[in-house]
Amino acid sequence: MEKKRILSGMRPTGKLHLGHLVGALENWVNLQNEYQNFHLVADWHVLTTDTQNTAKIPELTREMVIDWLAAGIDPEKSPIFIQSQVKEHAELFLILSMLVTVPRLQRNPAVKEQAKVLNLEDRISYGHLGYPVLQTADIILYQADLVPVGEDQVPHIELSREIARKFNQIWGETFKLPQAKLTQFPRLPGPDGNKMSKSLGNHILLCDKPERVREVVMSAITDPAKIRRNDPGNPDICNVFAWQKKFNPGEVSQIETDCRSGKLGCVADKKHCAEKISEFLAPLQERRAHFEKFQDEVEDVIRYGNERARIEAANTMEKVHQAMGIG
Ligand code: TRP
Repeated sequence: MEKKRILSGMRPTGKLHLGHLVGALENWVNLQNEYQNFHLVADWHVLTTDTQNTAKIPELTREMVIDWLAAGIDPEKSPIFIQSQVKEHAELFLILSMLVTVPRLQRNPAVKEQAKVLNLEDRISYGHLGYPVLQTADIILYQADLVPVGEDQVPHIELSREIARKFNQIWGETFKLPQAKLTQFPRLPGPDGNKMSKSLGNHILLCDKPERVREVVMSAITDPAKIRRNDPGNPDICNVFAWQKKFNPGEVSQIETDCRSGKLGCVADKKHCAEKISEFLAPLQERRAHFEKFQDEVEDVIRYGNERARIEAANTMEKVHQAMGIG
């Protein structure tokens, strides 16, 4: 039986952090045997929020792809490709944009939230409002069955289904209806307890050296009621404990006991946790160093991925042209 398809995508944001790893990348790596995966660098999506800074996109792309490879994406099994290098994305986006109303796009909670955060309110661009339509093109161009996303992106995938269904109603069965595949991992907090993100500056990069990891971990907020070393603590509200669970699973129950009893102080706990995170990152950093050194390998990966993607995309557009009778 043919493997089910997955389309995963990220905007090129440069070097990735632990939040990306736990929330997305590890999941992508785990899925690559069971499914046929395509990995998209959504560079045109950057234009929606960062329209003027296009010159830095190639560098951000390179850094991100290196982290994907370092995390264990196998580019032979799972092509890695660049949205803007497969022009069919733009063609399909144009067609799909006729199948959705402006009020429907304005109702999308993720777009609303972004417009609010960026202070755009009613100055949002036509392209920005339509980014879930471009995302739909990204997905259905590859006839993806599943799209691994976080909670926040679920409304987009619902819209993708609606749009694909609408196309099929008008021009006949052409597209598969994609489904969101929710990532199960609890979100990884930063040292301040907020979701780890570059914009908040509370992140640990996958390429961060032990000194930097230690600096961030030592700055973390633990249980505020645990003031002295031997005060009993509550791991449930401790950011360091959230990291221990992920990066030090073997010792986590002992740590929990010792924190609750007051035997383990926060400073010792943090030092140990920082070491565990760096140990965890060491093999990734080794692979990263390889690709930093042999950048032509990264270029080959992308060139190969673009070719694979173009074949799929051209196939689908052939069907679209047939169905519509134009193009
Ligand atoms: N919109 C996603 C984001 O902002 C990136 C993205 C673009 C994407 N196209 C996609 C994600 C297709 C999944 C599938 O992060």
